[in-house]
Amino acid sequence: MATAGAAAPVYADGVVRQFSIMTIVWGIVGMLVGVVLAAQLAWPALNFDVPFLSYGRLRPLHTNAVIFAFGGSALFATSFYVVQRTCRASLFAPGLAAFVFWGWQAVILAAAITLPLGISTSKEYAELEWPIDLLITVVWVAYAVVYFGTIAKRKTEHIYVANWFYGAFIVTVAVLHVVNSAELPVTAWKSYSVYPGSIDAMVQWWYGHNAVGFFLTAGFLGMMYYFVPKQAERPVYSYRLSVVHFWALISVYMWAGPHHLHYSTLPDWVQSVGMVFSLILLAPSWGGMINGIMTLSGAWEKLRDDPVIRFMIVSLSFYGMSTFEGPMMSIKTVNALSHFTDWTIGHVHSGALGWVAMMTIGSLYFLIPRLYGRTEMWSVRLINTHFWLSTIGVIFYVANMWIAGVMQGLMWRAMNEDGTLVNSFVQSLEATWPFYVGRLLGGTVFFVGMLVMAFNTIKTIQAGGPDAGAQGLAARG
Ligand code: HEM
Ligand code: HEM
Repeated sequence: MATAGAAAPVYADGVVRQFSIMTIVWGIVGMLVGVVLAAQLAWPALNFDVPFLSYGRLRPLHTNAVIFAFGGSALFATSFYVVQRTCRASLFAPGLAAFVFWGWQAVILAAAITLPLGISTSKEYAELEWPIDLLITVVWVAYAVVYFGTIAKRKTEHIYVANWFYGAFIVTVAVLHVVNSAELPVTAWKSYSVYPGSIDAMVQWWYGHNAVGFFLTAGFLGMMYYFVPKQAERPVYSYRLSVVHFWALISVYMWAGPHHLHYSTLPDWVQSVGMVFSLILLAPSWGGMINGIMTLSGAWEKLRDDPVIRFMIVSLSFYGMSTFEGPMMSIKTVNALSHFTDWTIGHVHSGALGWVAMMTIGSLYFLIPRLYGRTEMWSVRLINTHFWLSTIGVIFYVANMWIAGVMQGLMWRAMNEDGTLVNSFVQSLEATWPFYVGRLLGGTVFFVGMLVMAFNTIKTIQAGGPDAGAQGLAARG
């Protein structure tokens, strides 16, 4: 428990601290697995013929670790922090909040054991088998009770817009998870989806796309709407725009999923609906990005000497880039080139590393000193080092994937006059190899940044104490 000023209620911050630390821990673990995967794609022998080190098993381990363990912990930590401050109320049912923490760690542990063993539903981002699905549902309901219970007991009249985004994320993820995980268990660790064929694919990508839209976007927009104004020490640029942004985003995202299934057995009109809604999605996405970036208007000089605000603004720039690129990739003729290539992987990581990870990192640098009774991190210079490692790492990662992806698409479709292919698949692999090594380098640099963050965090916690901000200021020197 910690207090935030004389007039403020006593906030339940223990669970916020726990989730914040685990965000860093799972970030390191998940990204390390990403680095291993990147190395395996360049040198496949690195699986050492050990089944649980094989690419097919480590890949879902990576996606689950970075999205649900790293991203999820960041969302739990920040939403519990933000809802208390903006409602001027302590957490509803703090015991239940503790259950959310331990329950979620149990889910992660179960994933870390079952996925390397090859236990999987094979539905992307929903690989966990039915007993774990049940646990996720229980934990999620507990999370919703704590979160909305806190909003219900708020001392403020108004519900700040960050809570709208977090709230939409919580409700939608519950619906997505329950509907997409409807499955028939046949043994303790094996189940089959209740949906047949193409319907299964459509439900899966309705889930998959909205996992991006609500887990990796709406929740992080909640983070953006609280931490960017806080760090910039200015009100959000336009509150009216934020409300329009909210309603437009949540109503459009739901319909865009079929862009993952272009040229498939899905009816053609469904594919076109997916494409059109994806194109419309550009508008609310950019509205939100502009609202975040313009919050800094009149205080642009902060970009020069505050590495935390730099993390947030670069993150918003990547949000803008990936939400421009996504609608372009959803155009069927563009998708004919990009689908199956590393262009998709470049898009994913410009969103995941550029937007999601960098917003998380910026918000944690705001949060951690405050959670441990300091005004700043132990070393501002190390935040700066981390900022450059992340920025260079992500640019290197995505640039390599963009070039490799477009090259692959063009090589695969090139035809001789007699209709035979110009390139064999192996030739395209050989041409891709240098870019795989380049991606490995970029990913490793980003990963090293996370280690720097862990070191700085340990030092911040060790230094502790209410007066300790001075040391952080000294480190800026
Ligand atoms: C050091 C950082 C990272 C590295 C080196 C890395 C590396 C990789 C690699 C090698 C793949 C497999 C690509 C393929 O199959 O062709 C992958 C997939 C993926 N990664 Fe990462 N990753 C990192 C961070 C992250 C983060 C932070 C997130 C999310 C917040 C993320 C989300 C994903 C997703 C969603 C996929 C699957 C993409 C798809 O199926 O199209 N990654 N990553
Ligand atoms: C306006 C917003 C966006 C639109 C319209 C969009 C559209 C797309 C399209 C068309 C694909 C390729 C589908 C395929 O060929 O299979 C894709 C893949 C993907 N996008 Fe986006 N995107 C958007 C924003 C984002 C953001 C912000 C993130 C991450 C935070 C993200 C994460 C992903 C992931 C993980 C995949 C790979 C899915 C898979 O095949 O496993 N997207 N997106």
